[in-house]
Amino acid sequence: FWLRQDLPERKVRYEESTGTWDVFGYPEIQQAITDPKAFSSDTRRLSPVADQTSTEGMLTQLDPPEHQKLRKLVSHAFTPKVVADLEPRISELTTELLDGMSGRAELVDELAYPLPVIVIAELLGVPAGDRDLFKQWVDSMFTTNNRFSLTETSPEQEEYLAKAMAEVGKLTDYLHQHVRERREHPREDLLSKLVLAEVDGQRLSDAEVANFGLVLLVAGHITTTMLLGNTLLCLDAHPEQFARVRADRSLVPRAIEESLRFLSPFAATARATTREVELGGETIGADQLVLLWVAAANRDPRQFDRPEVFDVTRDPNPHLAFGRGIHFCVGAPLARLEGRIALNLIMDRFPELRTDPDSPPEFMPNPSMTGVRRLPLLL
Ligand code: HEM
Repeated sequence: FWLRQDLPERKVRYEESTGTWDVFGYPEIQQAITDPKAFSSDTRRLSPVADQTSTEGMLTQLDPPEHQKLRKLVSHAFTPKVVADLEPRISELTTELLDGMSGRAELVDELAYPLPVIVIAELLGVPAGDRDLFKQWVDSMFTTNNRFSLTETSPEQEEYLAKAMAEVGKLTDYLHQHVRERREHPREDLLSKLVLAEVDGQRLSDAEVANFGLVLLVAGHITTTMLLGNTLLCLDAHPEQFARVRADRSLVPRAIEESLRFLSPFAATARATTREVELGGETIGADQLVLLWVAAANRDPRQFDRPEVFDVTRDPNPHLAFGRGIHFCVGAPLARLEGRIALNLIMDRFPELRTDPDSPPEFMPNPSMTGVRRLPLLL
């Protein structure tokens, strides 16, 4: 991973230009990610621009004890049983999307984006037909290739953030409308369950349910889109391993885990220090923004043998692509299931599939997202 290669010895460094800390090492990230008291998930208070959005119900930004209360609610929605029951619907959707593909195809537009977004929209109970709107609103958050500075705010940075916040605001308003409607007419969907749920004898507010839905909708699709694209990209680049997986489907789950390690979709997650801490031989003061580069940790030679080698038989594979500790990805079982079903059905349908040599893939411009946003294929 490029950041780690620049710094073979240092696992933690201060980045002067942005006023933030970068953490690249596996044990160092594990230390930070499992210590929410010293490394808070509420990073907004360090934001260089006033953030008007509320964090009520935003699971990813909450610390204990609020975090546990909400996490319990969402865990019910993603139990192994609930996720396993989605298998027929995910297979049906994948088959329908594959039916629309022939000859030359573009994986992201035709399968890797629509599949997870339809699944999460159906779970929440919002119309999957609105997915082009979600894409427009959510894309705005990830179109920059700049790292934000906490020390100097530039007009471009402020303009970008203002625009992104306005787009996210549209998604929140959209979810608010659905939440209000569910209060009056509950249905059998996740939004209704959240509207009716009680935490310590109290119902969640509309804002909490809407923000909760926002986190699920955003976290629940882009990352899985990248997982599907990255897995095909890695397999295509290693034809002998692709042939092995085609011949022995029991390797599919491991191939997906290895893709998550090798090209981790959610490359970095952020924390704010609450006090002075020692990490990787450095002293980090209180109220510092710390970026935990899980994608770099997933190639740490202290943890993984031959980390630069993509190996579909790697086992065990304790990668950090879904995080670890109290914020461990709620949707991991769902993402794994979607990956498994999609890869199997793609291999069944298109045994000769390869990337299009005349049309190279395009990658996400944002450094904290590792994945293709266009992957042209010859089927
Ligand atoms: C949390 C990655 C798919 C919902 C996380 C975290 C990571 C992650 C690294 C931890 C963030 C942190 O510690 O700050 C991924 C990847 C995915 C994926 C790589 C796909 C390949 C999904 C899906 C859903 C989802 C499908 C929902 C259906 C969430 C939620 C959290 C989370 C709600 C916050 C959990 C908490 O704060 O307690 N994800 N995710 N993710 N993810 Fe995922």
